[in-house]
Amino acid sequence: MASTSKTPLQARNLPWVEKYRPQKLDDLISHQDILSTIQKFINEDRLPHLLFYGPPGTGKTSTILACAKQLYKDKEFNSMVLELNASDDRGIDVVRGPILSFASTRTIFKKGFKLVILDEADAMTQDAQNALRRVIEKFTENTRFCLICNYLSKIIPALQSRCTRFRFGPLSQAQMIPRLEHVIQQENIDITPDGMKAVVTLSAGDMRRSLNILQSTTMAYGKVTEETVYTCTGHPLRSDIANILDWALNKDFTTAYNQILQLKTLKGLALHDILTEVHLLIHRVDFPPKIRINLLVKLADIEYRLASGTSEKIQLSSMVAAFQAVRDIVASDG
Ligand SMILES: Nc1ncnc2c1ncn2[C@@H]1O[C@H](COP(=O)(O)OP(=O)(O)OP(=O)(O)O)[C@@H](O)[C@H]1O
Ligand SMILES: [Mg+2]
Repeated sequence: MASTSKTPLQARNLPWVEKYRPQKLDDLISHQDILSTIQKFINEDRLPHLLFYGPPGTGKTSTILACAKQLYKDKEFNSMVLELNASDDRGIDVVRGPILSFASTRTIFKKGFKLVILDEADAMTQDAQNALRRVIEKFTENTRFCLICNYLSKIIPALQSRCTRFRFGPLSQAQMIPRLEHVIQQENIDITPDGMKAVVTLSAGDMRRSLNILQSTTMAYGKVTEETVYTCTGHPLRSDIANILDWALNKDFTTAYNQILQLKTLKGLALHDILTEVHLLIHRVDFPPKIRINLLVKLADIEYRLASGTSEKIQLSSMVAAFQAVRDIVASDG
């Protein structure tokens, strides 16, 4: 893999997601087909308008920035690239103002086109998107647009059809690990195989999250192990979940509730995370089908209520009650 080890000294204090942001197309992992297609477009000087979409931390912004760096020399970068993201105004005025004036002025360089990067384009209002489609069409001769978003459905169809679409899917564990290993080696991190597994599992295909977890765990605990990663992210450990399940099924209601609450407070766990893990465990434990269905329905209800901002304590008691009810059914059946 290409290395980005020639980072300038002042980069030492940067968050790792920026410090290790891929600088060239070659530095990017995964999405090989997307990268080679874009590279081909660039080589043949036929870059279309682009639309990148997909979940966070999968390399959309990095890809277009790397393209821009490849297309333009440092000194022409500012005059040839306009980058707008969510912190900029997203109404129709920005299309009629900065975007229009950037796209409509001729380039001082004879050949080549300018590039307008609209990051987080799903935050643009409908009016702005409608205004943009005319601007895109009118200035295609000397300007290319790259729209980036998480949700394709928030981009109006007329804009979608003017762009070549690329979907950036979540990264697989096999793709993330070599990149993480590169960072681990550069930063001299003390990490166990279990720690690595925890980082990759918790980041669920989001490279940004994996680097952030790695950095915060290293800063907070020095050593990256399964335990420190879970503690640092406030995520329940497998042993915590096993305890919770054990208490809920085997203790009386008050004891179970109090012990879970105590663990939850002590470790700063969110009930939502507990619920997700308990849910996974229910699928793995060999419950009779009737019982499993009963539990899953109840957990789904609790999750729904949690999402609408109800009290964690009341929902926790509801979760304990669900398990106690299951136990009683088993007892009366047996
Ligand atoms: N494909 C990748 N290869 C290497 N590093 C990556 C990749 N994707 C993400 N990263 C790392 O994660 C950081 C964030 O990536 P980036 O900003 O490109 O994500 P994004 O897809 O634009 O996410 P968002 O939708 O949240 O804006 C980068 O700085 C880089 O360190
Ligand atoms: Mg981005």
